[in-house]
Amino acid sequence: MKVQLGVVGAGYISRFHFRAYQKNSTDVRIVADLNEEAARAAAAPFNAAVASDWQAVIDNPDVNTVVILSPSSTHATVVRAALEAGKHVICEKTLSLSASESFALGKLAEEKGLLLFTSYMKRFFPAVQIAKSILPRLGFITSVYCRTYQGVGRADLYTGEIIHPWLTEADGTSRITKLSGGGILVCGGSHIFDLLLYLVGKPAGVYAHQLLREESDVDMVTHAMFDYDNDCTAHFEGNWHPHDRIGYQRDGWDEGFEINGTGGRLLLNTPLWNGSEHLSPQLRFYNAEDGTWTDYGTVPVCPFEEAEKYFCEQIVKQEQGDYDRYVGYRVDQLLESTQLSATENMRIPIPWQDV
Ligand SMILES: NC(=O)c1ccc[n+]([C@@H]2O[C@H](COP(=O)([O-])OP(=O)(O)OC[C@H]3O[C@@H](n4cnc5c(N)ncnc54)[C@H](O)[C@@H]3O)[C@@H](O)[C@H]2O)c1
Repeated sequence: MKVQLGVVGAGYISRFHFRAYQKNSTDVRIVADLNEEAARAAAAPFNAAVASDWQAVIDNPDVNTVVILSPSSTHATVVRAALEAGKHVICEKTLSLSASESFALGKLAEEKGLLLFTSYMKRFFPAVQIAKSILPRLGFITSVYCRTYQGVGRADLYTGEIIHPWLTEADGTSRITKLSGGGILVCGGSHIFDLLLYLVGKPAGVYAHQLLREESDVDMVTHAMFDYDNDCTAHFEGNWHPHDRIGYQRDGWDEGFEINGTGGRLLLNTPLWNGSEHLSPQLRFYNAEDGTWTDYGTVPVCPFEEAEKYFCEQIVKQEQGDYDRYVGYRVDQLLESTQLSATENMRIPIPWQDV
């Protein structure tokens, strides 16, 4: 099957996806954005049609795969309409704003025999793939420390003035909520949760705590302690911070994993999200058996491009593969349970749905 794309949303994130389509000579048939000028600019290199209404993408008979890059609040409606119309779907994260909705979308895709990819592109760093292959050597995993510390210039969101896009607007939500559906937990934590699920697996419960401000509807800091059935514990921290020189590249981006097991320790740091085609993750493995450290150097890649290449190849083969239809659901379930725990100030058993 030849992939013929229709794209909804031509904003900031779309540049990475369109670059992948250009590099891979992927056929883009139509681009829709409320801002028709943005759609026109994105469509031009592909000689694609242009629309301001996403329904035109779904209705286009040439399109067999719908790519959704519009704000997260629009995802569920557009994904559902695309699946109902018999189209495969590639959707930016998060898949929807609720775990039950994301589960239902996975089920719908499965029932219709259609492919559904929620794009968590950080899995596609070669270093993450190597980390996954090393994990069995860690033996029994005792603890995980994972975090995303994201710089916000020098703004002090802990005690200072709250600025756009974090400030709650007249309609009761901030710009960041309108775009992404939440604060640092959703924006940054979603990626870390996807990697935690991919590398370590599904936790049984969560206890979370957040730093909130009156002038904002989103979290500035979220901590979560995840417990596993086998007594492994994972500690997550998401943090919008004012320190512009922290992190392994000293660029204010401090994100990654420390995973400890009976067989050793794995350290993984992932680079600034929108410049990663120039930067490689850092991956180190301590082997407890012989006391050696190994550093893994990998070639910088753009993970968005790697992800799109993989998704389109799977669509050509008509195979969902290991990156299953419930990747988006699992992350949304962890996000929802974490938020509930922080709000209720209690441990929440995570109500995983059987897939
Ligand atoms: N993977 C990542 O690391 C990452 C990073 C940033 C954003 N995102 C996700 O990407 C998505 C888009 O983010 P962005 O930064 O590009 O936002 P953006 O605001 O720059 O772009 C969104 C675009 O969608 C258009 N749009 C809004 N509603 C629409 C509708 N109903 N129909 C058609 N077009 C519509 C807007 O006009 C805008 O051009 C969000 O879901 C966000 O969570 C992912």
